[in-house]
Amino acid sequence: MIPSQTIDDIRNKADIVAIIGEYVPLKKRGKNYLGLCPFHSEKTPSFTVSQDKQIFHCFGCNEGGNIFAFLMKAENISFAQSVEMLGQRLGIQVKNTGTPLSQVGDKDKYYDIMEIAQKFYREMLEGSEGEPARKYLDKRGVTSETSATFGLGYSPDKWDSLMNFLFKKGVSYKGMEKLGLIIERTDKSGYYDRFRGRLMFPISDLRGRVIGYSGRILTANEEAKYVNSPDSPVYNKGYNLYGINLAKDEIKKQRAAVLVEGNVDLISCWQYGIKNVIAPLGTALTQNQAKMIRRFADNVIIAFDQDSAGSLATLRSVEILKDEGLDVHVAAFEGGKDPDESLRVKGADNFRGSLKKAVPWIEYRIINVLSRYNLAEIESRAKAAKEAAAIIGLESDELVRKGYIKLLAEKLGYTFDEVASEVKRLSFYSQKGQDNSLKRTVEKPALKIEKAEQLLIKLALDHKESFGLFKQGISWRDFTGGVTRNIAEFLLSVDIEAHEDLSHYVLENIPDEESKKLLSKIIVSDYPQSNIEQATIGCINTIKAHHLRSKMEQLRGAIAAAEKEGRHDNVSVLHKEFKDLNEAYRSLSV
Ligand code: CTP
Ligand code: MN
Repeated sequence: MIPSQTIDDIRNKADIVAIIGEYVPLKKRGKNYLGLCPFHSEKTPSFTVSQDKQIFHCFGCNEGGNIFAFLMKAENISFAQSVEMLGQRLGIQVKNTGTPLSQVGDKDKYYDIMEIAQKFYREMLEGSEGEPARKYLDKRGVTSETSATFGLGYSPDKWDSLMNFLFKKGVSYKGMEKLGLIIERTDKSGYYDRFRGRLMFPISDLRGRVIGYSGRILTANEEAKYVNSPDSPVYNKGYNLYGINLAKDEIKKQRAAVLVEGNVDLISCWQYGIKNVIAPLGTALTQNQAKMIRRFADNVIIAFDQDSAGSLATLRSVEILKDEGLDVHVAAFEGGKDPDESLRVKGADNFRGSLKKAVPWIEYRIINVLSRYNLAEIESRAKAAKEAAAIIGLESDELVRKGYIKLLAEKLGYTFDEVASEVKRLSFYSQKGQDNSLKRTVEKPALKIEKAEQLLIKLALDHKESFGLFKQGISWRDFTGGVTRNIAEFLLSVDIEAHEDLSHYVLENIPDEESKKLLSKIIVSDYPQSNIEQATIGCINTIKAHHLRSKMEQLRGAIAAAEKEGRHDNVSVLHKEFKDLNEAYRSLSV
């Protein structure tokens, strides 16, 4: 470990503009310096360096941080190495107290090993050993261009090929084992390769670093069709999506993602030009995977296999995606049971058509319910109607609900009113629809509230009086943006008297990457601020007002439900609550 005093000294002595200027030509623009980002390709400069703050941030790719973060990324070195490198240059001696490298350093080492392994598998695919895998790819119509794009590889059908290769490169068996590349023999007499005789799909994180593998058997053997990397220091299945590094730009552009089940489906889609496609890595879709999608998309089109397993997985995924405030559609396609087959049999245009015709999740669920009943029978039809009515009751928008009532009535031969009264009766039990519409306002805050939250953070970092007002005036729980909320929570827990440079302290110590990125942006951004106190109070009031408004919205729903149910006592209590909120809201005068 390096003493934090040393780290602070080095950071304070270094000039970020001079050092970054050696990597990237920078031009002065206003208070900041501007250049072309070294971390992504761009034609107009969005890479910003603040001399005042000694922080950089790229408004294009969102990388950001202090000088150490820059050097780590630019030189591909660990945190400790970046401190040493800069210390040497500034003549400040760095005494590393000898304990092992920090977490960050360790992690870098793991990423390196994964990359070396990927190159090995790739070479094996291209060499003489890879013949059967190349034949297999040929047979499945995967072009060599696609194979290269996805970095596909081959693990030779031997017990120790990767292990020996990595060992010669100086990688320890323990390190390989931690990454799940090799497995210890049960009698502990040694290790063997996890992946043998398989087509290797490297799994990358958002930044394109290889973090795991999925290995497919080349034969029809269905027993263990895939062997996957276990979770490791760099890999957490539930937090990653296959293909996300390649797909994210296209997803952002379309604000829509296509979700398929299989690695092969994904690769096929890509090859046929559908590039906003991701897959959940063989697990049931997790909430964290949905959160990841939400960062880039508003809408998800599920195109899972058209068998009973696929439809079960679809129903489960619908719930998870909806909970993140995403619009969800479900596609039905022709020509085969999965997107890969459909694409090969019916072609890209046909499959694209299926994606266009994908139905909203409610419709999908209704169709799904109806398909399970014998609709020729009156009793079954009534049961189907009830089940479908309960689904319609989940929708909060009245017009949309009416549309589905009409659809269901027509499909089952009931009148509109007959179905409507069922929906009304059943929707009381499931107020989920309302929760969902609320969540949506929470997930996608309007620009004004977003700005207010960021500015308040900025003011609190820069001015002690703002920090005080913030702490007294409002809780981090009142924040609506997921990331600003995290930052607020962390910031309010800091003892500001103990830290001279609050911005740097928070940036260095806040644990998650997303918060770091937004922080560096907030720190280098110029927010117009004349009267500090007034600006701070303004932000606090805007946030409070937003919070009150969403509470009122929630109450309105509850009142409507209570009225429908004829619970008059309840209605008056709720009305009183609403009045109080409304008064509080008015008194903010925003
Ligand atoms: N999967 C897995 N383990 C298995 C089977 C499947 O981890 N034994 C995961 C893989 O990520 C796979 C996905 O579930 O990609 C979907 O399975 P499947 O449709 O069977 O695989 P595909 O990749 O579509 O392969 P193929 O079309 O060649 O059968
Ligand atoms: Mn498949």
